[in-house]
Amino acid sequence: VPAGRCVVAVDGPSGSGKSTVSRRLAVSLGARYLDTGAMYRALTWAVLRSGVDLTDIESVAKVAGEVDLRIGTDPQGYGVTADGVDVAKEIRGPEVTGAVSAVAAVGAVRELLVARQRQVIADAGRIVVEGRDIGSVVAPDADLKVYLTASEAARAQRRSAEDAADVAATAADLARRDKLDSTRKVNPLQQATDAVVLDTTELGIDEVVARLRALLSERGVA
Ligand code: DC
Repeated sequence: VPAGRCVVAVDGPSGSGKSTVSRRLAVSLGARYLDTGAMYRALTWAVLRSGVDLTDIESVAKVAGEVDLRIGTDPQGYGVTADGVDVAKEIRGPEVTGAVSAVAAVGAVRELLVARQRQVIADAGRIVVEGRDIGSVVAPDADLKVYLTASEAARAQRRSAEDAADVAATAADLARRDKLDSTRKVNPLQQATDAVVLDTTELGIDEVVARLRALLSERGVA
């Protein structure tokens, strides 16, 4: 794989296959991988730990500004810590999942994390970045922008399998979170106008990754 710059932005709602596709694509490209959702989740963990009221935007922003957040970029396994605490497990738990959309809606939190994400991208050069606003806000100059979708039923099925949770409850939670994430004022989940849209309901992971590789080689990027 050539050593040139290659930035791929992967956006889409929960359960669209973003994480699996992004990690596999990064491995196949010999690139780094950034899970921006994990950053919002880790900050949310710190906010919950601090005990501040989630609706108190100024206090949430203050906690976010003070926490020492670190995240790795190895697509085969990255660590994430907040103030030196390994939070990889906790950030997938129901408390963080239930609160993350509220924290991610705070403008000051997004400003902080977007700046961090741009720095990681600049340092890495070759990287697959997944999130909700990567193609639209974080990396508008990405070499390839992908927007993954899937039917609500398929998304709920995948998430509940991952979390060993009830499908109906997962579907309700996904719908609630997607609504918050797409209707918030600051950088909502958004399909960039120049994004390639792929519906993963019927497509296998390998097929999606192969299509993305083909698009990159057509563009002469990788
Ligand atoms: O992809 P995920 O489920 O781990 O993301 C967790 C939450 O973080 C999600 O509800 C929306 C938010 N998020 C965001 O607002 N912007 C991003 N770039 C990534 C995630």
